Amino acid sequence: MRVVIIGGTGHIGTYLVPRLVEAGHSVVCVSRRQTRPYIDHEIWKSVEYVTIDRTKAEENGDFGSQMAALNVEILIDLICFTPQSAKQLVEAVKGRVKHVIHCGTMWVHGHSTQVPTTENQIRNPFGSYGINKANIEAYLHAIHQECGFPVTILHPGHITGPGWLPINPVGNLNPEVFVKLTKGEEIILPNLGMETVHHVHADDVAQAFMRAIAHRENALGESFHVLSEQALTLRGYAEEMAKLFGQEPKLKFLPWKDWKKEVHRRDAELTWDHIAHSACGSIAKAKKVLNYRPKYSSLQAVHEAISKYFEQQGITI
Ligand SMILES: NC(=O)c1ccc[n+]([C@@H]2O[C@H](COP(=O)([O-])OP(=O)(O)OC[C@H]3O[C@@H](n4cnc5c(N)ncnc54)[C@H](OP(=O)(O)O)[C@@H]3O)[C@@H](O)[C@H]2O)c1
Repeated sequence: MRVVIIGGTGHIGTYLVPRLVEAGHSVVCVSRRQTRPYIDHEIWKSVEYVTIDRTKAEENGDFGSQMAALNVEILIDLICFTPQSAKQLVEAVKGRVKHVIHCGTMWVHGHSTQVPTTENQIRNPFGSYGINKANIEAYLHAIHQECGFPVTILHPGHITGPGWLPINPVGNLNPEVFVKLTKGEEIILPNLGMETVHHVHADDVAQAFMRAIAHRENALGESFHVLSEQALTLRGYAEEMAKLFGQEPKLKFLPWKDWKKEVHRRDAELTWDHIAHSACGSIAKAKKVLNYRPKYSSLQAVHEAISKYFEQQGITI
């Protein structure tokens, strides 16, 4: 099949594009050609590249028509962040494409009522990113209901893997937290450390996209969570990482209002976003319908990512 992947050279594309090529698809990658995939692979030579800045093309009103002109059979949209953006694409490719797979996010849920969160729960999104993604999802479901638009929505958790930093045990991206854990130093967690994060390895995200293609008939008009098997509490995450580094965990806890004063503003903002969402999702639906089988637990995914980071930084444990 001819697969067009919008934004195919980032976290997800690094794993997804080689899988698509290996499966025999003819792959067209749309990007600005500024980002390189994390892992060099001979396979990237067989990919067709189309250089387009989506933001600029959307402003000109011709992004959708440029995509439609690519004679796409399967369209994978990894970088759609507003309903207007989704609409421009859908209107242009409607009736001309067999399957559109949209990349959403667990943050469409906002705060969950019951956990693990299932796909059918009422959305309570907050923050512009989550609200926009939830509105895109609602629009795509509506257009599927209305005219059978062939769409599937995949909602990853915190994507991780070698090449970029994972969300750490205090819910932000500061690598110092991991470094302290390797040295057996104390780290301070917000509240009781019982809020959750739910990671997924980028290769498992890629697996889910492949499964959605393979199980198209059952995937149409559906949303699926794409996560590791289980979420982590911040406390459990910190304890397990310390043990993986051969250290006894030394943890201290502070109420949020005191904790946030101890860290940089940007770190506090990111932590707040992560603990306010406290992602903890069910993957039962993806397992049943798509036969999705994540290879990595949350800890395995994080461990692989942070080991690579330490190697790149020359940090020895
Ligand atoms: N990161 C997470 O933890 C997380 C969690 C849940 C869901 N998600 C979802 O994952 C998706 C992002 O996937 P990713 O993490 O693989 O992305 P990424 O690593 O940020 O890569 C972005 C890709 O899009 C291209 N791109 C960026 N801006 C562009 C533009 N204006 N025009 C054309 N191409 C552009 C980049 O290439 P160039 O720079 O060369 O253009 C690159 O190929 C989003 O839908 C996000 O909501 C992410």
